[in-house]
Amino acid sequence: MTTQTITAPNQHRVCPWWVAYFFDNPLRRLIHPADKTLTPYVAKGMSVLDFGCGFGHYALGMARLIGESGTVYVADVQQKMLDKTMARATRAGLEKNIHPLLCASQGITVPAEVDFVLASNSIHETPDPAMALVELFGVLKPGGRFLLIEPRGHLKVEAFENEINQAITAGFVEVGRPALSRQMCVLFQKSVLKTTT
Ligand SMILES: C[S@@+](CC[C@H](N)C(=O)[O-])C[C@H]1O[C@@H](n2cnc3c(N)ncnc32)[C@H](O)[C@@H]1O
Repeated sequence: MTTQTITAPNQHRVCPWWVAYFFDNPLRRLIHPADKTLTPYVAKGMSVLDFGCGFGHYALGMARLIGESGTVYVADVQQKMLDKTMARATRAGLEKNIHPLLCASQGITVPAEVDFVLASNSIHETPDPAMALVELFGVLKPGGRFLLIEPRGHLKVEAFENEINQAITAGFVEVGRPALSRQMCVLFQKSVLKTTT
């Protein structure tokens, strides 16, 4: 499958692709089961985006949850991450519903607005998290939800709180703080209500 362009690469803070072998392993599948973690947010027929997909730990789970009528867009700045995700998807028989998007300099362009966005351990690696959050807000349908996950310990709590404030500035409304081992998580929603001044 061909890849498409989405956002500005700034490789200096990006997790090297081979490091994903250390954290995307069978132990992680036990402590962060993708299907179970995302079941509350992802349903059959949905269109979803995994921003900074890495090796596709969550993307494969989402592909199982959306079924044959849904679509998972996997976005990453590293082609190797997309290749690995697609190879794993093919082995699992899920490749038909997963579409890779290679990041470049034009900002996020996903073929259609999505029902749900996941950014797991990726926003802190972007060159401009506030801008990335504005871009993610733009690709989400009104009423859609956005799950932000960041690594506890690796990222300081203050930095995570800063991301939350940036997400709220982008327009998201915080609707929950799901618990996930060794991670910091916030669930946001794109309000369907328009504010009037
Ligand atoms: C630590 S990995 C997490 C991977 C995956 N989400 C997970 O939880 O297993 C961070 C990923 O974000 C990607 N990334 C970093 N900056 C990015 C950007 N500006 N746009 C898209 N992806 C980015 C990296 O290439 C890497 O695959």
